[in-house]
Amino acid sequence: MRLQVELTDALQDYVADVSLREPDLLQKLREETSQLPLHLMQISPEQGQFLRTLLKATGARRTLEVGVFTGYSLLSTALALPADGRVVGLDINEEWGAMALDYCKRAGVADKVDLRIGDARASLERLVKEENAAGTFDFVFIDADKENYTTYYEYALELLRPGGLVVVDNVLWHGALLDESAQDSETQALRAFNPRLHHDERVELSVIPYADGLTFAVKR
Ligand SMILES: C[S@@+](CC[C@H](N)C(=O)[O-])C[C@H]1O[C@@H](n2cnc3c(N)ncnc32)[C@H](O)[C@@H]1O
Repeated sequence: MRLQVELTDALQDYVADVSLREPDLLQKLREETSQLPLHLMQISPEQGQFLRTLLKATGARRTLEVGVFTGYSLLSTALALPADGRVVGLDINEEWGAMALDYCKRAGVADKVDLRIGDARASLERLVKEENAAGTFDFVFIDADKENYTTYYEYALELLRPGGLVVVDNVLWHGALLDESAQDSETQALRAFNPRLHHDERVELSVIPYADGLTFAVKR
């Protein structure tokens, strides 16, 4: 038997009560995003805080985010980076990107943000081929279309310096991975993605069953 506390709603509320520190603008961004039909794509405030803690703990300065949406993780990152830190954010949706940038401006951290609108695969290719950015990032957060996770992960490894960290969101895909009847493209992509990392000798690996599942891979 494994010791695993059951995360009831009451226990999650307790954790938030005793630990959550959500800056005002992040709260406002969350509230505004909650009016959008796809608001469930946003990371939770606990995850945003975890991201900020992680960035501080690792001393990250140059980070990359694949999948910005309205900017909760982007603003969380920009707030945690040092004054000379930079986050490159990639998203395909102009409207959501504009909202993300607006909040970063209001928080006074827009100068740390380099938001690029377009297909993330093309933006990543540009970073590697035209900007010679391979090996220059400390941290990558992957939270975009699941079908391209393997491609994003490969680019992330190329762009990270040795010792750099890639964090991948939604790797448990609300449990659908174990449901044989779930055969949609996102579930299938994640079913292929997770075992691929298991034996990837290029990284130190840990999968944390927190929120919707987070993979941590440190480039060797
Ligand atoms: C789960 S949401 C990201 C949530 C975000 N990290 C947050 O904290 O709110 C996924 C995002 O990936 C973007 N996306 C989907 N396919 C993409 C692609 N091919 N290239 C770039 N972005 C893409 C979507 O527009 C969407 O904003």
